[in-house]
Amino acid sequence: MELTLQSRSPEETFQWGQKLAAILAGGDVVCLYGSLGAGKTAFAQGVGAGLAIREPITSPTFTIIHEYLLPTPKRDAARLIHMDLYRLNSTEEAEQAGAADILQEDTITLIEWPQIALPLLTDDRLELAIEGNGEQPRRLIFKATAGDWLCRWRQGEGQ
Ligand SMILES: Nc1ncnc2c1ncn2[C@@H]1O[C@H](COP(=O)(O)OP(=O)(O)OP(=O)(O)O)[C@@H](O)[C@H]1O
Ligand SMILES: [Mg+2]
Repeated sequence: MELTLQSRSPEETFQWGQKLAAILAGGDVVCLYGSLGAGKTAFAQGVGAGLAIREPITSPTFTIIHEYLLPTPKRDAARLIHMDLYRLNSTEEAEQAGAADILQEDTITLIEWPQIALPLLTDDRLELAIEGNGEQPRRLIFKATAGDWLCRWRQGEGQ
């Protein structure tokens, strides 16, 4: 599966995140790629809003892992984990920070800068690469490593 979307503003990137949230379920892992300032956190904030999380979704660059409880569990998901592994240097460091332990059936996991954690992750992931930065429009390129993501996305469009 591959799907490319356009975003002309932070708000639009946020809205795509909200839209993805409508089809996310417990156990889902979404890897967020893109350069500094591409819009990964903006997208994650949209996912948080789409899951009805009222707390602000803030960048986990310095804290590595943020956890939010869903006010109402949705599709077997009770919590959202938002990670940013930018400041870590190895798979071992990612493991020590809890990147593997955190992947639970009742959790939706978003990972910024996921490259070093790939050996720890499930084979069934949604990977989103955000291209463009600064004031340029963004291209959001979704690729699934396995599973029925495209089917889920199309069903989501019908909602
Ligand atoms: N179309 C767009 N989509 C998203 N962000 C945009 C867009 N156009 C401009 N921006 C700006 O780009 C920045 C994106 O910041 P954000 O923190 O989401 O990036 P990031 O990819 O998480 O970076 P980092 O790797 O540092 O965590 C914001 O300042 C936002 O206002
Ligand atoms: Mg970020």
